Amino acid sequence: MADVIDATHAGLRAIYFDNAATSWPKPACVAEAMSLFLANDAANPGRAGHRMAVAAEKMLDRVRKSLADFVRASEPSRVIFSSNGTDALNIALKGLLREGDHVVTTTLEHNSVSRPLEAMSRRGFITLTRVDFSPASCVIDPDDIRRAMTPRTKLVAMTHASNVLGTLQPIEPVGKIAHDHGARFLVDAAQSIGLVDVDVEAMHVDALAFPGHKGLLGPTGTGALCLSSRIAAEQILPFREGGTGGDSSSPTQPAVFPHLLEGGTPNTVGIAGLGAAIDFVNARGPSQMLAHERAILTKILEAIAALPKIRIFGPKSAGDRVGALSITIDGYSPQEAAAILDESFAIAVRPGLHCAPYAHRTIGTFPDGTVRISPGVFTTSDDVDTLVRALGEIAGA
Ligand SMILES: Cc1ncc(COP(=O)(O)O)c(C=O)c1O
Repeated sequence: MADVIDATHAGLRAIYFDNAATSWPKPACVAEAMSLFLANDAANPGRAGHRMAVAAEKMLDRVRKSLADFVRASEPSRVIFSSNGTDALNIALKGLLREGDHVVTTTLEHNSVSRPLEAMSRRGFITLTRVDFSPASCVIDPDDIRRAMTPRTKLVAMTHASNVLGTLQPIEPVGKIAHDHGARFLVDAAQSIGLVDVDVEAMHVDALAFPGHKGLLGPTGTGALCLSSRIAAEQILPFREGGTGGDSSSPTQPAVFPHLLEGGTPNTVGIAGLGAAIDFVNARGPSQMLAHERAILTKILEAIAALPKIRIFGPKSAGDRVGALSITIDGYSPQEAAAILDESFAIAVRPGLHCAPYAHRTIGTFPDGTVRISPGVFTTSDDVDTLVRALGEIAGA
């Protein structure tokens, strides 16, 4: 079997630089696992059920264990399946926060963190401090987090890597600060999962939220929230309640992980694909995949540094980034530049604010945003050559 799904879109070899939104193409084993599960075992999982239900439950257990091992969770039951990164973040934010809590977050956050927090703050449920970053480094200073902590701070919520700038954030020191102040630490690993190792127990992370469809190379409709052993079931309220496929006699949600936080039929077909994707990522190795993305970014950065009309945001090297880079081109709005790349060169990039408006205010690109170029594990040198040639033509080089 080929490593990767045949990468054509409408008969054209698409040049895909939008992996920060969702990775594409996917490994061929992902499609195969989904198709096999759908054909053979796609009953509703249930421990006390018939053989197909048991097979579906076993598949869930297997993937839960793979994810737990991947982020060094203390036990698989602490991995809660979600439908994407946003869902996992909402389960954590709405489950952990109580009236009167103070939350420290950052201006790098995606709307899936900043909107739930802003909504809770506007209705007077919590108070909120947003810590800004330096536009030169595009990294949060842990000392600024420390200064924002108050005796009422119950949560620090922060991204591991900026989806606009690609810069990796100092989660371990920030986690330590949160814990020194008796607060919980929620990390949004949407852009780092599959590329940068996270050990939830050792790195002071209490809740790690991530999608399955980006760096993990799984299908859309998948994600997870992983809770550290420091969070007890009594300390998190279910964001949704319903059937759990197990003990139905209790009038309320079972107070045990994962069922406490997993009401409803899970996306079993997607999770079967996610399981195969994790095996693929483990076989290649996250550090190899990160090295590949950085090599691609370095090639792009070196080539476009010579184009005077192109402005690069954040550090000029790929060293502390995952595979995401924001640029603007003089004389073109990000939307115009992205449309030309798509229509004239079949190159997929993403223009705009990337759901992270506060970050754009800090780097001075609000409200139009930037053009985000995000290579992935299957991006080739030829893809980079085509992109650089296209940017050169647009920027008039
Ligand atoms: C940093 C960050 N957080 C959260 C999300 C939300 O993930 P999802 O699209 O899976 O809901 C994204 C998606 O782009 C992201 O980049």
